[in-house]
Amino acid sequence: MNLQQMVLEIIEEQGNAKDKLIEILLEIQSRTEGNYVPKETLKIISESLDIPLSRVYGVATFYSMLSIKERGKYVIQVCNSAPCYISGSFDIVKVFEEVLGIKMGEVTQDGMFSLEYTSCIGACNLAPAVKINDKVYGNLDKSKIIQILDSLRKEGK
Ligand code: FES
Repeated sequence: MNLQQMVLEIIEEQGNAKDKLIEILLEIQSRTEGNYVPKETLKIISESLDIPLSRVYGVATFYSMLSIKERGKYVIQVCNSAPCYISGSFDIVKVFEEVLGIKMGEVTQDGMFSLEYTSCIGACNLAPAVKINDKVYGNLDKSKIIQILDSLRKEGK
């Protein structure tokens, strides 16, 4: 199935009401290898839902749960809001970069992990905290990060 067919199928399932935009983007992302919303799909959505392309693009790039850039199977979002920043989120980023062998914003070669920043994820009492897909991990240090990544690697195989 090509991208256009996939998008049209999703729109048929979800309906083409304008307020379905986020659900449609999330569904495209979940069905796309690389866990992202390909840019080519935005125009199809824009035409099908009769929403200006700039608005579709704006929504797809505004929410941290959506991405128009290819990501890993596990999306590691490091909180960089003030409480986490003060508690050492910068050092946490360094550990993830070192252990995964990638830089912030990149995806591991096996497509398993990607690293990005996010704003507060509501776990300030656990700072420094990260969100990996839907799960929050806090009070992080190097050994905890290594443990988390090991168990996700096993789970993701
Ligand atoms: Fe990091 Fe709230 S500031 S979780």
